[in-house]
Amino acid sequence: MRFKLTAAALLAALAVTACDRVDPNSPLGKRTAIFKEMLKTSEDLGGMLRGRLAFEPQAFAEGAAHLDQLSRQPWQYFPEVKDDERSSARDDVWEKQERFKALARDLEQRTAALVEAAGRQPLTPDQVVQPLQRVEDACEACHQAFRAY
Ligand code: HEC
Repeated sequence: MRFKLTAAALLAALAVTACDRVDPNSPLGKRTAIFKEMLKTSEDLGGMLRGRLAFEPQAFAEGAAHLDQLSRQPWQYFPEVKDDERSSARDDVWEKQERFKALARDLEQRTAALVEAAGRQPLTPDQVVQPLQRVEDACEACHQAFRAY
């Protein structure tokens, strides 16, 4: 009896996990992975400017290029209609698509400007502080409007 109960509890727990897990190949899974990578990349860039990491001009330029590539990718994984209740996107993503797309273009332009600034040689941190700040502001602006926390 005791065993049976435990097994049932275990199965129930497994079922919940399976249901909660987002399929990595689904649109939600894909955009989430890209956003996480964007966060990690931008945090490393910020870390180099704020003293958490050593400032390496080449690593900074590579990180900026990677962030620029990533910034073009999440949008294709937002389907035309809301796809998944587990998404933390607000319904406005689908109801105000023009605004959403405009903020996505803002980010892309700002990461491109960051790449350009990071390509100067010799590169010093003060040349990229403003451009990175503008990128972070673009993330923030869209999250405030379109992401539910
Ligand atoms: C144009 C709008 C927009 C911009 C710009 C944007 N995001 Fe987001 N972000 C979203 C939305 C919407 C979600 C919620 C996605 C979902 O759950 O469906 C999100 C989710 C995330 C998440 C959470 C992923 C998870 O674990 O669920 C992270 C991290 C993130 N964004 C980082 C960033 C970073 C870093 C930047 C800037 C470099 C950025 N985002 C720029 C709209 C944006």
